[in-house]
Amino acid sequence: MALSGRRVLLIVSGGIAAYKSLDLIRRLRDRGASVRCILTRGGAEFVTPLSLAALSGEPVYQDLFSLKDETEMGHIRLSRDADLIVVAPATADLLARMAAGLADDLAATALLATDKPVLVAPAMNTRMWDHPATRANMAVLESRGVLRVGPAAGELACGEVGEGRMAEVADILAAIEDALGRDSPGEPSLAGLHAVVTSGPTHEPIDPVRYIANRSSGKQGHAIAAALARLGARVTLVSGPTALPDPSGVEVVRVESALEMLAACRAALPAHIAVCAAAVADWRVANVGAGKLKKGGGAPPALELVLNPDILAHLSAPGPGRPALVVGFAAETGDLLANARSKRETKGCDWIVANNVSTGSGTFGGDANTVHLLSADGSESWPPMSKAEVARRLARRIAGAFAVGAAP
Ligand code: C5P
Repeated sequence: MALSGRRVLLIVSGGIAAYKSLDLIRRLRDRGASVRCILTRGGAEFVTPLSLAALSGEPVYQDLFSLKDETEMGHIRLSRDADLIVVAPATADLLARMAAGLADDLAATALLATDKPVLVAPAMNTRMWDHPATRANMAVLESRGVLRVGPAAGELACGEVGEGRMAEVADILAAIEDALGRDSPGEPSLAGLHAVVTSGPTHEPIDPVRYIANRSSGKQGHAIAAALARLGARVTLVSGPTALPDPSGVEVVRVESALEMLAACRAALPAHIAVCAAAVADWRVANVGAGKLKKGGGAPPALELVLNPDILAHLSAPGPGRPALVVGFAAETGDLLANARSKRETKGCDWIVANNVSTGSGTFGGDANTVHLLSADGSESWPPMSKAEVARRLARRIAGAFAVGAAP
């Protein structure tokens, strides 16, 4: 069984989606995992401790100051005795308390006391999820390594439509298996391999003070560099201008323009793996002004644009120095799979990660991504997940390809 012997501490906080957690317990146990539950005060408004106890086959813990709960299983032991803590549903309130490091109930205290991986499945009204406070709390938690699955878009219990529904149980299960797989002895490793990752936008100068840029935040590329490094790869991250901190354990080369990015990538070779996640400007200004262009009274200056080199195509070109596995990204606003498929062929890369960046998708600058992975063997669609999670899965896939010698 996939999760045989694995121990999950499930924290159920207050939301209508709590009923789905009952099914989650059953399915975890079907896969061989043992499940212990903490039920918050809010959670107990939606499901009963009796249901959780009956399905988990374990006592349910509710109260930080209950003599019975503390003597049976103290809050420290509760969190230490688990391989993974899953918070499903995770309310806006509990995410805020986690981000602030509060310990004002048993759930928050166990989460503060743990040194184990934590996976959250947020569930809330779409406006609460979109609120800058919730987004900031989630970003803080993810920067500390908290894993996230969902929320999904759709009709919410309150009747509104938008992002905020708790991820489906199948997706939570997949995320749990992924998170637990990471610690297993069979975890694929990238030790001994060198990866070059491009990330962020490029800035193409117009004159000494102005430039042409795009909306890329660099979040996905930086997360991929971090995920590859966590699996043991030596990583060179060639980054355009971003506001992001350097990922730990990664060598960062900062560049501005596409020409500088290409030169830095070439200098970083040889590499076994190249992942081009940067949003490289397609064109640069041919006639860059030596001094600041002046408004004057005449006609506005005409900018002549010339095509930038395609870094992904350069790295994919056949030859003795070609990385064994080259992965590109395809950000599309329509005909996603068809465009991505032809991009893979024209650029010559091995895999393409395709994502939809049309207005409203929230991909550019946001923390979530819905992607499809295309290779010569076909395509697979991944459920909506955080960019950190996309990065982790992609890194594992890359490691898996090298482990079985499948990398071309
Ligand atoms: O052609 P398009 O820009 O849609 O292709 C996207 C993919 O190509 C991404 O992987 C991006 O990093 C890469 N790319 C590149 N150099 C360029 C343009 C795109 O590496 N000049």
